[in-house]
Amino acid sequence: MIDELRSIVGAAHVLTDPSVTESYAVDWTGRFRGTTPAVVRPASTEEVAAVVRVCARHGAAIVPQGGNTGLVAGGIPLGGEIVVSLRRLDGIDPESIDPVAGQLTAGAGATIADVAAVARHAGWEYGVDWASRDTATVGGSIATNAGGIRVLRYGDTRAQVLGVEAVLADGSVVSHLGGLVKDNTGYHLPSLVCGSEGTLALVTAARLALVPRQEERVVALLGFAAVEAALDACAFLRRSLPSLDAAELFFADGVALVCEQLSLPAPPVAADVYLLVECADHVDPSSALADAVDRVEAENAAVAVEPARRSTLWRYREDHTEAINAIGPPHKLDVTLPQQELAGFVRDVRPAIMSVERSARVWLFGHAADGNLHVNVTSVEAGDERIDDAVLRLVVARGGSISAEHGIGTAKKRWLSLNRSEAELRAMRAIKSALDPEGILNPNVLLP
Ligand code: MLT
Ligand code: ZN
Repeated sequence: MIDELRSIVGAAHVLTDPSVTESYAVDWTGRFRGTTPAVVRPASTEEVAAVVRVCARHGAAIVPQGGNTGLVAGGIPLGGEIVVSLRRLDGIDPESIDPVAGQLTAGAGATIADVAAVARHAGWEYGVDWASRDTATVGGSIATNAGGIRVLRYGDTRAQVLGVEAVLADGSVVSHLGGLVKDNTGYHLPSLVCGSEGTLALVTAARLALVPRQEERVVALLGFAAVEAALDACAFLRRSLPSLDAAELFFADGVALVCEQLSLPAPPVAADVYLLVECADHVDPSSALADAVDRVEAENAAVAVEPARRSTLWRYREDHTEAINAIGPPHKLDVTLPQQELAGFVRDVRPAIMSVERSARVWLFGHAADGNLHVNVTSVEAGDERIDDAVLRLVVARGGSISAEHGIGTAKKRWLSLNRSEAELRAMRAIKSALDPEGILNPNVLLP
């Protein structure tokens, strides 16, 4: 089989040396590690289709992989699968850019930063964004239906995807990249593929909707004494500022860790609870933000307009992931709560974790307007799932979801039934077996 794969993509793009394949077999956090007989790196949809046909003929399971920035072990070969890396499909054809409709077609391996740069050049922006933008790929973002920092304004990845080109389990290709905004011609495969974690098809390209470019930006870091006050402020800012682009929640201990691990000076605002907000508009949103901030109960605030100063404030939030991993690997529990339950959950989650494992260190941060909290736990064994169990059950007891934006992967599949009924799971399994009857596409993720 390896020789057949070599004849499709070229010998240089079938990696079998374990010292080379290792980086494709371990997740970004270092918590999950698998093995693979080969990493195959096709460069076109036709090559992906041919690779899938060979794997199907040999009954070899496949794990599709993009930038390998996933956080739930959904893109690594924990069951010894062949890794099909889509990173070489990184083109964004200039011909595909429609500056009138605000759309472009990107290859699955294009990074989120690539899409954003091309969109900006065409007078538009890409509506989703998150810290791993330079490595995370379009294909991976579709597989996980990634969220990020701008969901409150533009929705998640699914809301941007107008069409996909994808290879099915039998090697056939479905391609629907016309970009019609209104297109009610039956099942909407792009929606189905978004969030399917590589279990239904390998996405090779996507038609993406862009949003109007907003040149004028301002960032404010607000300090609060309590999470309730920060969340009330977030709700008020959402109601008063149509230009609100991001609203991120984090805490003093996380900021101290970021400063310690990444050698940053203390932030200009000292507080127990932080809300970082960004506004973006065609006209300078600074005074609208300042007026609104005057009316919330912030203890103190720092504002940045100039790009370098904006990025400096953002580092106190975006560098959480790296700082935590530096003392990790963490258990990463990305959850959503109904907005009204978020403050209570923040209060309860720490004691719930400590009652299971006294040595645990708990780090909380997230996307305040989406009810999306990232519960990260360090100083516990990688394989000790008691923590995960306690946190996810607490989430569900408060009406939340065990996965907000990272997906289920392998890490959370044993808890999927907390959120999905037997009837829902049956429907999902029926879809999976209709599209992948032999079960070769990412067979070890998502469905228990
Ligand atoms: C974030 O919001 O920073 C990302 O979801 C990554 C993470 O949870 O660490
Ligand atoms: Zn996030």
